[in-house]
Amino acid sequence: MTLEKIIDAAPSGIILLSEEQKILYSNNEITRILGYGKDQIKNRTSDILKFYQKENDLYEIDFKSCIDDEKRIQNTVYVKNGEGKYSLVFVSIAPLFEEGQPARSILMIHDISTMSDCEVIFKRSGEENANGFYNLVGRHKKMTELYEMIKLASESNANILITGESGTGKELVARAIHGLSERNNKPFITVNCSSLSETLLESELFGHVKGSFTGAYKDKIGRFEMAEGGTIFLDEIGDISPLIQLKLLRVIQEKTISRVGDNREIKVDMRILTATNKNLRELIASGGFREDLYYRLKVFTIHTPPLRDRGNDIPLLCDHFIRKFNEETGKKINGFTDDAMRLIMDYCWPGNIRELENSIEHAFVVCKTGYIDIFDLPQEIRVVKIKEGICGPADEEQEDRVQGKKGVRNRVTRDELVEILKENNYNKTLTAESLGISRVALWKKIKKFGIDDVNNVK
Ligand SMILES: Nc1ncnc2c1ncn2[C@@H]1O[C@H](COP(=O)(O)OP(=O)(O)OP(=O)(O)O)[C@@H](O)[C@H]1O
Ligand SMILES: [Mg+2]
Repeated sequence: MTLEKIIDAAPSGIILLSEEQKILYSNNEITRILGYGKDQIKNRTSDILKFYQKENDLYEIDFKSCIDDEKRIQNTVYVKNGEGKYSLVFVSIAPLFEEGQPARSILMIHDISTMSDCEVIFKRSGEENANGFYNLVGRHKKMTELYEMIKLASESNANILITGESGTGKELVARAIHGLSERNNKPFITVNCSSLSETLLESELFGHVKGSFTGAYKDKIGRFEMAEGGTIFLDEIGDISPLIQLKLLRVIQEKTISRVGDNREIKVDMRILTATNKNLRELIASGGFREDLYYRLKVFTIHTPPLRDRGNDIPLLCDHFIRKFNEETGKKINGFTDDAMRLIMDYCWPGNIRELENSIEHAFVVCKTGYIDIFDLPQEIRVVKIKEGICGPADEEQEDRVQGKKGVRNRVTRDELVEILKENNYNKTLTAESLGISRVALWKKIKKFGIDDVNNVK
């Protein structure tokens, strides 16, 4: 393989610049990032290769000091492609000296806009379809209510707090709000606030200047600045320290930030979405969260319902994930055996959709036939005791309370139930679905009405 082929296959953009900063050579990744062919950019200069701190705010690379001081320059900036769209890139420039040649420089551009926590969502995609909204799957009433809330939220510029148990799709909701909003051609930046220490989170959010703390060996722009014009999604907001809480309050009030180690104030314009699976009210009561910040973050609140509250969405989600993993793995799994489906419908999914997704992924590894069976599913789903341990016994009272359907359920008479069973060919899963109750609750009803021989009712 020639050196040129290797450079062309590199996952980073590489450019060789002349002394006058004319492009002498570029590889394939540069073509992808800039959206111009190699011939189009050859011998061109800064008219085609421009970097930005934020929209329309040019970032000038100091080539002179790079060459004169033999210094490497690195920064996270934006680059604009031929269609005028911005991508977030990590850029790095080093001088290149060769005997008998004028000084040149090598420029590397690494596109980081596709990294999961640092995404530039340019287009509206998906929107509403028969089974869901954006990438959210679900037709349960609680989900259609959620879609309405997302639409309302996307029309305003208010800060929004998304609450809900782990794995219920809070991040998908945040993406949908951004994707539907006027800001959707600007960056959507995610920060997981629980995964970094206070110092690192502070510099991640606000950026820092070189030397402001040990390890700060270069200037760095923070995520608030990266989100300029767009949306910042602060996940696990309940985990931020008092210092970060105070700084965040200032950002909201003053709409300015300053990088760590720098007093200059930088104006910022971004929409703040936050999420938590903690009870912030309890945290406030115990002194762990500022009440004034809480009210500023939750101008509008959206709650993602747990999966156990929307049992009749489970088959839909199962189909969705089976399709997804068939595509990803190249397998051809058609569905579940009746027994496996019964288990899935009866399990209470404390880890919600993430747990369902992971269980199906697990089953894809184990399953050797076209249908996922009980023993292909993770053990915890097979052990009913665990279900009871985590969720408590699912008695009808509790089921009613959880699903908020007491009125509807109590109106179902014995005759109506018999009728619905018949309509569904005595298939208990389908009957439970059409009643909007779990299979456990259906069994209890069948027992209560004394319809013991369900396949033989008159
Ligand atoms: N309604 C849904 N339809 C399809 N997939 C979903 C839905 N809700 C969640 N998921 C999937 O479940 C997984 C978990 O979702 P997400 O990360 O948004 O949850 P979360 O509420 O942010 O969880 P955590 O609090 O643990 O961070 C993701 O892979 C997501 O794609
Ligand atoms: Mg999350």
